[in-house]
Amino acid sequence: MHRRALLGRDTERRTLAALVEQGAAGSGGATVITGAPGIGKSALVAEAAGAAARGGARVITAVGVQSEEDLPCAGLHQLVHQLRDGIDDLPGRQRTALLAAVGLVDEAVPDLYLVGLAALTLLTDAAAKAPLLVVVEDAHWMDRASLDVLGFVARRIESDPLVLVAVTRRLDDRLSSAGLPVLHLGPLTDEVSGEVLDAVAPGLGQQVRRRLLEEAAGNPLALTELPVALQSVGGAYALNPGPLPLTARLERTFTARVSRLPADTRAVLLLSALNGDGTMDECLAAATRMLGTAVDAGAFEAAIGAGLVEAQGAAFKHPLIRSAMHHAATAAERQAAHAALAAALHGQPDRQAWHRAAATAGLDERVARDLDSTAGRALRRGGVAAALAALRRAAELTKDPSVRADRLLRAAELALESGQGDVATHLLTQARSLELSVRDRGRAAWVSIALAEGTRGEGAATAELAELAVEIAAGGESTLGLRMLWSAVLQCFWGEPGPAALERVAAAADRMPVPADNADLVALRAYSAPVERAEGVMEGLAGQLERSSENAEGDQLLGAAAVTVGAPALASRFTARSLDALRAQGRLSMLARALCVQAGSAARLGDVRAGSLAAEEAASLARETGQPLVHAMVNAIRAQLAAVSGDPAAEAWAAEAEREALPSGGRPVLAIMQMARGQAALCQGRYGDAFGHLHRVFDPADPAFHSWLRFYAVAELVEAAVRSESAEVARDIVRELTPLGESTSSPALLCGLRLGRALLSPQDAAEPLYRAALDAVPTDWPFEGARARLALGEWLRRHRRPAESRVALRAAREIFDALGASAWAERARQELRAAGASSPRQDPAAVDRLTSTELHVAQLAAQGLTNREIGERLYVSPRTVSTHLQRMFPKLGVTSRGELAAVLGATTTYPEGAAS
Ligand SMILES: Nc1ncnc2c1ncn2[C@@H]1O[C@H](COP(=O)(O)OP(=O)(O)OP(=O)(O)O)[C@@H](O)[C@H]1O
Ligand SMILES: [Mg+2]
Repeated sequence: MHRRALLGRDTERRTLAALVEQGAAGSGGATVITGAPGIGKSALVAEAAGAAARGGARVITAVGVQSEEDLPCAGLHQLVHQLRDGIDDLPGRQRTALLAAVGLVDEAVPDLYLVGLAALTLLTDAAAKAPLLVVVEDAHWMDRASLDVLGFVARRIESDPLVLVAVTRRLDDRLSSAGLPVLHLGPLTDEVSGEVLDAVAPGLGQQVRRRLLEEAAGNPLALTELPVALQSVGGAYALNPGPLPLTARLERTFTARVSRLPADTRAVLLLSALNGDGTMDECLAAATRMLGTAVDAGAFEAAIGAGLVEAQGAAFKHPLIRSAMHHAATAAERQAAHAALAAALHGQPDRQAWHRAAATAGLDERVARDLDSTAGRALRRGGVAAALAALRRAAELTKDPSVRADRLLRAAELALESGQGDVATHLLTQARSLELSVRDRGRAAWVSIALAEGTRGEGAATAELAELAVEIAAGGESTLGLRMLWSAVLQCFWGEPGPAALERVAAAADRMPVPADNADLVALRAYSAPVERAEGVMEGLAGQLERSSENAEGDQLLGAAAVTVGAPALASRFTARSLDALRAQGRLSMLARALCVQAGSAARLGDVRAGSLAAEEAASLARETGQPLVHAMVNAIRAQLAAVSGDPAAEAWAAEAEREALPSGGRPVLAIMQMARGQAALCQGRYGDAFGHLHRVFDPADPAFHSWLRFYAVAELVEAAVRSESAEVARDIVRELTPLGESTSSPALLCGLRLGRALLSPQDAAEPLYRAALDAVPTDWPFEGARARLALGEWLRRHRRPAESRVALRAAREIFDALGASAWAERARQELRAAGASSPRQDPAAVDRLTSTELHVAQLAAQGLTNREIGERLYVSPRTVSTHLQRMFPKLGVTSRGELAAVLGATTTYPEGAAS
């Protein structure tokens, strides 16, 4: 069927040829080809692959196989096998992760993204030797872990002689929805259809020809198969439109052809169809078992003769023949075939377990247990989707209700983890229909709360979850208890469950039976009651910083907690500590969150450069790892950074964040976005607008209200209020927050209240208040100090003390300039001019001409890292790193990486940078 010359498809052929050519020239890429069964996807790719090979490229192929959808990394394994010579050259951690993922060594995979990095290195290393074309065929049947890894790789092909072409029937494929360009194949034109038909079946009568063209509707497989069917028993199906879709009718033409073959041939074909990419020997052994008589390779002869399988290797000529075999068999025949395969497979427990399960109609605990073990192995290899499938099937086979509930709940947790909310809900409902133990009730509650995460918290339910968590921890399950308490606390953070529920959750955290210096507990308490129970919280956090930490996850949570408490400098130290470890372990989901915290604290610290760098990376990782709320949060933070630096894009980022967060009621996102709008307006002198934006964060009836984040905006709110004749409102707010300020050591609230009081006080009495506010700013928060100096300088100038005013304003301006907080630096400049000092505009630093990725690469190169090491840190290929370096040298006016350190001298990442 294949290998006939392609007709038509000119545009698509040109597009693909151009991609392959660019790849050969060193700037490769990826594309996904989509289209209906038989529409000509494989034929198109085969042509491009042939041309690539003739041009000297190496072509490797992986094929998705329906029966292996649930074997983790089965697709990736095919590619790795073809590139096995390069495995030894991979960096150690990557090598282990890759081998573990494809099941070649028995180690746990820490995170699938590390496997992605390993695959990227393996492929780009191979491509460095000769241009490489990777074809992923029938991706609609490929296991999810492989697709995730390949999507990760495909998005990173930039400066390598590497091209990845994936072929899928699905429009909404994981690869095409992963942001890769899509080439969709529709029906052939009437004219080309006619040419194809005439080439296959010359000399047809006019009427039959017209009928065939109509039936085939531009589908080339139909155009090549229907004429064959017409001459055989399948003709009736072929030209009998009826209700069946074309694909089903084509399948039937194949079935009809199969039905005329001898029994042993039919048996080996059914077994091959069910055996995925297993070997011919396995099929023959299973056939022998099934038929009770020796079957050898001769059994394939008849199928080769009928044009159903390739002469070489006995592979099906078209995937539809495989599914035709599947559909044509009765359920009993399929079960018998699966049983025979299970018995014939040796030393492959996972495939065996699946075949045995497929051979079982009712309940069978032994089979269920084997599948449960398969799930465990899949998880170790990072195959969450595969483990989920195995557990679901195992639950179906399980008789004992409590064992069944346990399997259902584990499956629900995995569904949740992999972002399949609807599946998790379904599994949860099934589990809840059984009688559950206290522990399992807790797990079910945890899943259901987590499913609602990001939406408005149901106050009582959140509080109950927290109390159940304590009960469960007291019963000895402290890990589960802590996890549940986290859900409750995050629910409080993202929603606004009301003061009563907040108090109950905080009280539950107080009672949690784990040691007081447990990192989780410290973070939980900071999150659940950052101010109400602030005594001890700051000390607890500071104590954690002194302890050496190997717990990247704990550090990430502590960092997030520190932001909540109002201690951004502390937060950035925790996240800085977690970032390297998260990168090394390939935990990109958590890395996205850690970078988001880092960007958020940098925005509060006024450190625009470090913040933008972190935000950029956080945004792309949040998108890649499917965390929309984190993405929305990053956009709100980008708005904040833009406001601080006087970039007019602030409003656009804020609007984007709002659009993303509103559907899920992401309260903290809305709060930060409003603060960004307020700050931008304040720096532009639009005080009324600024007050309007900021007041929403303080108004409990507003969706942007946030109990704790509002502490960051106190001083700005007061300033905007005073300057827009709303001082009374601000005075009430300061009065309301004062008791909290007396019981807390939250730096954000304390600084905000002090400066706020100075701004509100009668003009003549204000000086000592301004000075006190300045003195109280912690040394690790220079931006806040500069704001206090700016306010003091303004006051001094208005009270006709220009010389003193200039001292304060100059100091403020220098700090703002050093941080890149240009909007604030500009305010200081205006005041300085008004105070009679000239203040030249600062030239933009050369580094500000770099994109944030370039800046990141430059910083790492300046530290002496090699391209390979930089690639490893930033999850790109070494050649992409080298392209970035080449692009930035002229922008910086340097010619070698040795000069980078000198040019970058001024920009180091926080905390060193902002503390200067
Ligand atoms: N443009 C064309 N000109 C001539 N023949 C074609 C053309 N496109 C496809 N064919 C033939 O049509 C048949 C089906 O094409 P192909 O196998 O590429 O379909 P497919 O889209 O890969 O289907 P599936 O999704 O089922 O794998 C093949 O025999 C192929 O040679
Ligand atoms: Mg195909």
